[in-house]
Amino acid sequence: MAPPTPGATTTSSGITLNVNGEKHTLPVDHRTTLLDALRERLDLTGTKKGCDQGQCGACTVLVDGRRSLSCLQLAVAADGREITTIEGVADGDRLHPVQQAFLDLDGYQCGYCTPGQICSAIAVIEEHAAGWPSAATADVGAETPPPLDPDEIRERMSGNLCRCGAYVSIVRAVARAAEEMQADDAAVKEAAA
Ligand code: FES
Ligand code: FES
Repeated sequence: MAPPTPGATTTSSGITLNVNGEKHTLPVDHRTTLLDALRERLDLTGTKKGCDQGQCGACTVLVDGRRSLSCLQLAVAADGREITTIEGVADGDRLHPVQQAFLDLDGYQCGYCTPGQICSAIAVIEEHAAGWPSAATADVGAETPPPLDPDEIRERMSGNLCRCGAYVSIVRAVARAAEEMQADDAAVKEAAA
C-alpha cells in the first residue's frame, strides 16, 4: 500500500495504479472499482462499462498480464499492480497485431465491446501459447498444445459478449493475430539461436 495520501480517511486509501507504464497515485474510496477508477479518475475511457456485474466482458483489462474484469475488482486490490488497458496495447503508432486484425477483418460493429474483446484476445493467445488448456481442449495432457482453432477461440473468448453479434469476424481476427504472433515469436527465437 502506498504511503498515506492527503485526503485519505477510514473509508478511503491512497493507492498507486501502474497503468500502461505510468504511475498514478490517488486517494480512492474503498468501494471504488478498478473500472470506475480508470474511467472516472484517470480519464481512461477506452475500457467500457457494460453490465457492471461481471457478465459481459466489456470492462476486461490486463492485470499483471492476466485478464481481469475491472468491474469486479476493487481499485485498492489493484494497488501496485501493472495494469494494461486498451489505450496501452499499441506500440506507439504501430497497432497491436490483435487490434490490426480486428480492423482488417471487421471484428466489430458498434465497437462498444471491442476494447474488452481485444484485451481478452491478447491474453487468450498468450495463455494458449503457454499451454493452458480450455474446456474445449480434448487432450489436456498432450505434449504439444492443440492449435488455437475456432472451437478453442470461441470457448476461450466466451466471457466477452458482443450484442452486435460480430462473433464470426472476431474469431477470424483472433485466429489471424495468433498466427502472426506465433510467427513473430518463432522468428525471434530463431534469431537468438
Ligand atoms: S462491465 Fe464488467 S463484465 Fe460487464
Ligand atoms: S461490436 Fe457492438 S457490442 Fe460488439
